[in-house]
Amino acid sequence: MKIAIYPGSFDPITNGHLDLIHRGLLLFDRLIIAIADNPDKKPLFSNNERLEMVKANTDASNRIEVMIFEGLLANLAEERNACAIIRGLRAVSDFEFEFQMALMNRRLAPQTETVFLMPFEKYTYLSSSLIKDIARFNGDIANFVPEMVERKLKEKFGFL
Ligand code: PNS
Repeated sequence: MKIAIYPGSFDPITNGHLDLIHRGLLLFDRLIIAIADNPDKKPLFSNNERLEMVKANTDASNRIEVMIFEGLLANLAEERNACAIIRGLRAVSDFEFEFQMALMNRRLAPQTETVFLMPFEKYTYLSSSLIKDIARFNGDIANFVPEMVERKLKEKFGFL
């Protein structure tokens, strides 16, 4: 049983994340989508809201588990016997930070490899931060996030 962890802030989940989840399921038997509880990042959505949005859009597969995690990702990977951590690489600008994190996680959890997956080209410029920026001014985000997330963002910014 090959288990991979897909960690992130998912604030909120986008079509780019969903694309990566789909690709991850082609490679691994089980995916644990681990939503980071990191109050320092001051997320727009609470832990429960982020969890609800990820769950609602990934329910179809019983090979997926969605959870909130606190503390070190490397510890979670060891506890859950994960052979891989999945991260998305959109552009060269992602590389430096991701490379550093991958090597540090390998040092902390040597049995877990970080695997980088490239999203579908049309999502390479997509990020949760940009989506929030656009949604804040009631811009059109319909092509970038699931319908439920679009609605939640509109509610959050007072447009519904
Ligand atoms: O979606 P993000 O914000 O790019 O995800 C970053 C995340 C959550 C994967 C990263 O911040 C993380 O792993 N946090 C948990 C704490 C930790 O393990 N830090 C050391 C990383 S080497």
